[in-house]
Amino acid sequence: MFLASHAALRLALATYRGTPAHELAFETGSGGRPELAWSSGAPPIRFNLTHTPGLFAVSLTRRVACGVDAERLSTRAVDDSLLSAVLSPLELARLDTLARNEATAAFHRLWTRKEAVLKALGLGLKVDPRCVLVGDEDELAFVNDPTVEPRSRTGWQVRTFQPTPDHVVSVAIGSVTEALRPLLIELEPTFEAARRLD
Ligand SMILES: CC(C)(COP(=O)(O)OP(=O)(O)OC[C@H]1O[C@@H](n2cnc3c(N)ncnc32)[C@H](O)[C@@H]1OP(=O)(O)O)[C@@H](O)C(=O)NCCC(=O)NCCS
Repeated sequence: MFLASHAALRLALATYRGTPAHELAFETGSGGRPELAWSSGAPPIRFNLTHTPGLFAVSLTRRVACGVDAERLSTRAVDDSLLSAVLSPLELARLDTLARNEATAAFHRLWTRKEAVLKALGLGLKVDPRCVLVGDEDELAFVNDPTVEPRSRTGWQVRTFQPTPDHVVSVAIGSVTEALRPLLIELEPTFEAARRLD
């Protein structure tokens, strides 16, 4: 999965950048996020990568930051200590109103939405996920954390998809106007099938 995801990322970047894959150079941002090496300002193509058993996902944008997170769905109830470490009091209260299996699915959805924003910020779990307010639906996210610079706290568009019965994927981009166009490429059982998610 690791090798396949990195190969797919390189091929996608090479295609959109118009550069042979072996000539792509990468650097790591201060928060740890990999980026295309670029002399000044944001690179023309931004990307992010996620992998989880059975699926990987890549997000690509022109200039604006992006983040993607995938989780394998589980029916196992989520531990209370994890819930309270990740969700805001309002999100916890909302989950409390749901039946157990619905609450578990809602948690995975919320978690990928939060992590997609944190990865788009490039800070990952250095920011408290409870501060990332994402809502349940395809709506805008807000990072309510004073340690994050003010202009990075708003303007995040997040969309969530269920590409397989077992996986949930969320994508965040630092633009409220650009469209998110997901493309699912099934690597198994053949390498040929590709279909749009919506
Ligand atoms: C980045 C982070 C969110 C990854 O989460 P994850 O669910 O384990 O992994 P995912 O599969 O979704 O993403 C991994 C990919 O994200 C990318 N990535 C790495 N650091 C990143 C960052 N700071 N921001 C955005 N993307 C990052 C890489 O491409 C990585 O793929 P690779 O390891 O194959 O190169 C998490 O490791 C993190 O928060 N790291 C930074 C803070 C930190 O080190 N905290 C220590 C633990 S509290």
